[in-house]
Amino acid sequence: MSFDVDALLAELDLDAKASLLAGQDVWTLPARPDIGLDSLVLSDGPVGVRGVRWSQDDPSVTLPSPTALAAGWDPRLAVRAGRLLAQEARRKGVHVLLAPTVNLQRSPLGGRHFECYSEDPLLTGMIGAGYVTGVQDGGVGVTVKHFVANDFETERFTADVRVGERALRELYLAPFELIVKRAKPWGIMAAYNSVNGTTMTQHAALLDGVLRGEWGFDGFVVSDWLAARDTVASANGGLDVAMPGPRTVFGARLAEAVRGGEVDESVVDDMVRRVLLLAHRTGALEGSPAAHQSEIDGDAIAREVAHRSFVLLSNETGVLPLKQPQSIALIGALAADPKILGGGSATVFPAHVVSPLDGLRKAVPPGTDLAFATGADPRTTLPPATDNFRLRAIAKAADGTRLAEFPLREAKIDWIGELPAGLDLNTLASVEIEGTYLPERTGTHTFAVTGPGDLRLTVAGRTLFDGVNLPPGGDVFTSIMQVNEQRREIDLTDGELVDVSLTYWIPSEMAEFARGSFAWVTFALGHRGPVPDPDAALEEAVALAAKSDVAVVVVGTTAEVESEGFDRTSLALPGRQDELVTRVAAVNPNTVVVVNAGSPVELPWRADVAAVLLTWFPGQAGGDALADVLFGREEPGGRLPTTWPAKLEDAPVTDVTPQEGVLEYGEGVYIGYSAYAAKGTQPAYWFGHGQGYTTWAYEELDGYPDEEGGARVRVRVRNTGKRRGREVVQLYLAPTERGDRPDRWLAGFASVEAGPGEAVETDIVITPRSAEVWRDGWQHIAGEYVLAASHSYAEPRLSTRIVLQKIR
Ligand code: BGC
Repeated sequence: MSFDVDALLAELDLDAKASLLAGQDVWTLPARPDIGLDSLVLSDGPVGVRGVRWSQDDPSVTLPSPTALAAGWDPRLAVRAGRLLAQEARRKGVHVLLAPTVNLQRSPLGGRHFECYSEDPLLTGMIGAGYVTGVQDGGVGVTVKHFVANDFETERFTADVRVGERALRELYLAPFELIVKRAKPWGIMAAYNSVNGTTMTQHAALLDGVLRGEWGFDGFVVSDWLAARDTVASANGGLDVAMPGPRTVFGARLAEAVRGGEVDESVVDDMVRRVLLLAHRTGALEGSPAAHQSEIDGDAIAREVAHRSFVLLSNETGVLPLKQPQSIALIGALAADPKILGGGSATVFPAHVVSPLDGLRKAVPPGTDLAFATGADPRTTLPPATDNFRLRAIAKAADGTRLAEFPLREAKIDWIGELPAGLDLNTLASVEIEGTYLPERTGTHTFAVTGPGDLRLTVAGRTLFDGVNLPPGGDVFTSIMQVNEQRREIDLTDGELVDVSLTYWIPSEMAEFARGSFAWVTFALGHRGPVPDPDAALEEAVALAAKSDVAVVVVGTTAEVESEGFDRTSLALPGRQDELVTRVAAVNPNTVVVVNAGSPVELPWRADVAAVLLTWFPGQAGGDALADVLFGREEPGGRLPTTWPAKLEDAPVTDVTPQEGVLEYGEGVYIGYSAYAAKGTQPAYWFGHGQGYTTWAYEELDGYPDEEGGARVRVRVRNTGKRRGREVVQLYLAPTERGDRPDRWLAGFASVEAGPGEAVETDIVITPRSAEVWRDGWQHIAGEYVLAASHSYAEPRLSTRIVLQKIR
């Protein structure tokens, strides 16, 4: 059956049309069986597909953080990741994935830095285009987000970003433009913030003028969740769908506005046309193309993206890959309990996680001893109980009736938005995490409860906590962002099974709020076995390192540092992790530091350790990928997608707090590497930096200008090392006449693979845009450029002069 949008539209009256533009709940749009339309389901995004339930009982394949995907510098890898996500979406009945996030890494303080790709618009756009192509190949839609200039979190709902037209075009809009033109996304998400005085959900100049008018975008525009504020201004300003529902600015209020003459019905018709087109594209409309089939192995992709993303920042002594050491000391709390993904709406729940400790235990060669010590623990809340616990969640009504039961992998309930199947906001009164724990060690065990409101914890028949848990002076709502923890201790004996129960009563304020539209049931039971005091833990780790051949120290950030909803205030590693590394390095010359963070952190000891390996938030298979790379089965394939400052003060933008509601992007087009270069600041590691396990000679570079003002470039590189490897060839353009442009910028890249001794040639297209600036319109700057084929921004290997000119 062909898709006749006007025929469908003709069957809908005004109320029916308006209803299709408003969420019926948090994640879905209403169905219209009379025209063969299913309910469209939207879901976060971007490292996995959460589905409509925010809970562990519906797990998702969890890929490495977006920063990691970008560090692969390979759009084809992003296509494959996207295809896996489409498969996940189809498995969960999701039509539209709320991803990718293509805001720029303007400041390392950005709370969602981990969720964006890069400081560079070309790299961001190319990875984003690959991701979108992959997801849509699988018949699933995307919403490229957050359009536009949402590169920070502080006051994100209201802040007005003041940014010059040139920086807006050349930087912040550029990835969206590239993705729209190259990958033809079926959706865009309008951001919370304003740009130059107009909030993005009603920004007609950018939504209708630029996105649809100039770029030819034909998909739908959805509001970020709760971003649409005004019925008339949003409808007339280019927004198509307001989420979440059921209380939104569209729906009945939109129909009323049409009847009142404030919005023309033809505007609503166009909005509905775009929703119907989305339904047709994603298979939600009767007769639209059949669902795609695929059988992609999620674990395998997660593991491959991880090792392809790991960036070997330094390896001065060649300690990596490890050469059959007799003993390895694995150190750090994050080695056993890694941070595999960033916080906020990007959260998904993996079915299983391979920690560095698990991964190394599996892979350690015969004859090598592996020992673990915590050393320093940066976590400020105890991790949810998991090992040796057998737990389930029991949902109960007010009279204690059992409503439903769910298995738990870890003792944490995060039901945000929707409740798991079988539960109803009107009857659910409490949830109990219940089961047993088999202690592995005799001594003092610490249990911790989090969750706003009334809680009761009993362990081994003893009530350890029974009361109200709220932050000092805070109420139920403030405690959503500010997690408050109560710790209690109990002595337990190795091998003696005990009963454990934590009951959480949903606070009445929350229930009221919930009855409206949104469930918010979050609480957890944390646990820690007997541990030495912090000084003794450090000593123990240092002693272990001193007697081992190699020390692998895993350091990183925590959920309190990198998440949606707030920006960072420091780039320092939390807790005593710097001290731990310094002390371990002082006793072991083969200290390898593994950095488990989604965004830049300061590494003050970086020159004193043998190697630094950045693994980002590596997703569910991170520990396996780490073992692959440490033992040399795979090489670390990543290159930095953003410049890492030596210290926060060196970063180009160190304040992302709006002043009186306004955030000035005063640096214009100088962000990232261009800003460091302009200021003459030496960062810790430049954009594009990263080593593999082999060496490369750049043998030939030829540039052939084309008539459109761009060029085709051929580069030949040879693998001069002893093992197969991959190189990311980076092309930078530096204008001979600089004028008001940066020194040089990324103009193209390609990732190539070759065996030992082999040479490989790659063709890279430089588009005319690389030589254009925005001056009330795109203007091509003809003239001579130095074209460099480089290993990183700071390591040109070959260069040549090229004259770019637009003849046609
Ligand atoms: C985030 C979006 C996300 C949405 C739905 C918002 O708070 O900014 O990125 O897709 O919530 O969870």
